[in-house]
Order: sequence, then C-alpha cells, then structure tokens
Amino acid sequence: MFISLRLAALCFWVLLLDLCGIIKTLGQSNGSGVVRVVVEEGSDAILPCSLSTKENAEEKLFDWKKDGPKEIFFYDGGLHYNNGRPGQDHQFKGRVSHFQDELKYGNASIIIRNTKVTDSGNYSCDFPRFQPRQIFNIQLLVEPILKDRSADTRGASPEPSVKILNQTQDWSLLQCEVLGASPKPTVEWQDSAGNKLPAEEPQVSERGGSFYIILQTTVKKTDNYRCVATQEEIKHQIYTETYVYICEKLFEDTCSRGDVTGWFGGIVLGAVILAAVQASLVATKRITVRCNKGATEEREETWERDMMTLSRACGPV
Ligand SMILES: *[C@@H]1O[C@H](CO)[C@@H](O)[C@H](O)[C@H]1NC(C)=O
Repeated sequence: MFISLRLAALCFWVLLLDLCGIIKTLGQSNGSGVVRVVVEEGSDAILPCSLSTKENAEEKLFDWKKDGPKEIFFYDGGLHYNNGRPGQDHQFKGRVSHFQDELKYGNASIIIRNTKVTDSGNYSCDFPRFQPRQIFNIQLLVEPILKDRSADTRGASPEPSVKILNQTQDWSLLQCEVLGASPKPTVEWQDSAGNKLPAEEPQVSERGGSFYIILQTTVKKTDNYRCVATQEEIKHQIYTETYVYICEKLFEDTCSRGDVTGWFGGIVLGAVILAAVQASLVATKRITVRCNKGATEEREETWERDMMTLSRACGPV
C-alpha cells in the first residue's frame, strides 16, 4: 500500500517533469501541413512559423490569427501589439510575444505564456505581402490539469468544510462535508504526506442534481490533515486543511522539559496539571504554541477552533 503510493507519487513527478513547459511538436507536418503543438494548461506554448526562404523578416509584415478572425499578434516592420499597435484580442493581452532576435532568420514564431484551455484552437501565421504569399497553420491543444476551478466552473465543488467531531487524548474524529457539487466528486482524507487515510463509507445524498457528501475519519497522530474533493470530469480539485493536535504527546517526547522525579516531581507535576485544568484558553494557547514551535503554519480560524477542542479534551487529565 505504502510502496505503491510512493511509486504513484514518483510516476506523477516524472510525468509532470515530462509535461511541464515542454512543448511537444508532434510531427512538423501531418499531411495537411498543419503543425500540432500540445502543452499543459498554465505552461507556455511556442507556435512555430518560419519563412521557407529564411530571409530577413524584420521589415516585413506578418499576422497571427486564431480560429479565423481573432487577432493574436500583428507585426509590421517593427511596429506590433506590444509596442503600441492596437487591435489585439483582449484574451491575449500581455501574454504573446515574438522573438525579435530570430526575425533576421525569417523566424516569426510567437510564444503564448500561461496558456488557458480556451487558447486551444487553429492558428495561422500569415505573410500577406509575400510573393508567393506564405501562410502557416498551427493547431494548439492545451490540456487541462487538476486544479481549483470553483471560481469559474459551474458545479465545481466549493471548499469542503471540516470539523473535529470528537476528540480524546488518543484520537480525533474528523468530519468533512462537501456541500453541493456536480458531477459527483470523490472525497478523501489525506495526511500531510498526501497518503489517503482509511475512512468510513461516505454518506452521499443528491438534491436537485447536486451531490452532498460527508466523510469521517479517525486520526491518532498530530498532523495537518486535508479533505480533498476531486471532480475528474471537469478537472477540478479543492481541499481544506486542518491541524489536529493529539494531547497524548503533551507530557511525553514533544513537550517534556527536564526530568521530574520522586515525590517532589509528583507535586510539581500535580501543580502543573492543576494549573492546566484552571488555565484560561489564552494560557492553553500560549503553552501549546510553545510546544509546537516550528511545526505549524495554520490558518487562524482553524487554529482557534482546534485550540478550543484541545482545551476541552485536555482539561480533565
Ligand atoms: C524560431 O525561434 C524560436 C524561439 O527562439 C525557436 O524555438 C525555434 O526553434 C526557431 N525556429 C527555427 C526554424 O529556427
């Protein structure tokens, strides 16, 4: 189980390295003279275009368009969309450049930065005044990746809401709720290393075509836990993280200072426990913060909530 997860993680990285930013030009020409460029969403794409004569294009005119009329990049003897010429499609503003140093070799390729899935389409690179006229066709495919699309995709799962249902010194019962998502998301709990945690059967209900999912898990270690909702069909993934502190460790390895021995130690320990019982929330927070220094970088609200649960669970030691 563990090994296969590690292997999966490794494969994932290898795949990512392979895809990230690397532009795969699949065959210069696939019969129809169309060059195909495939990139991963968010990376940059270079769309190739070179005069067959390789002659200097610095004083020439060339025009890049998409799906017919959409103006992507226009160059006319030094004047272009990035130095004052108006007319560029607003979707491409600030994302397209040519390669000035390459022009003298007849290379009028462009780069589109931070590609979006909607950049996919058929591009043309046209030298309208050239005799004979030269026009090149490039097909761009931007492959979507898994990411948070809740802001711009209908039915994308909102951030899961996470709470600690019950806590003892040895374990915490965590609940994750995904409220209203379509298509049906998969929901899972993960530890900070990304391992999927064993969990109860999810409780799934459907209302008006939207899915509501509740997933509980019991954890026994202090860690950052994530509830992750994924909708592979729309390439959407979103998570909520929560810090769980298991009290058991409070008087052991993580926090003990010095050796407390004998009856004197017993009295001191008793006093400490008494103080802990009587401590205000503020005091509890301070002590705990010190115990965990360096180990936490939490969102304030989650922290507060955990601390309240902690003070409740740790109170009657
Ligand atoms: C044109 O320039 C781009 C950017 O430097 C480069 O990637 C591409 O290989 C060049 N094409 C040719 C045919 O030299």
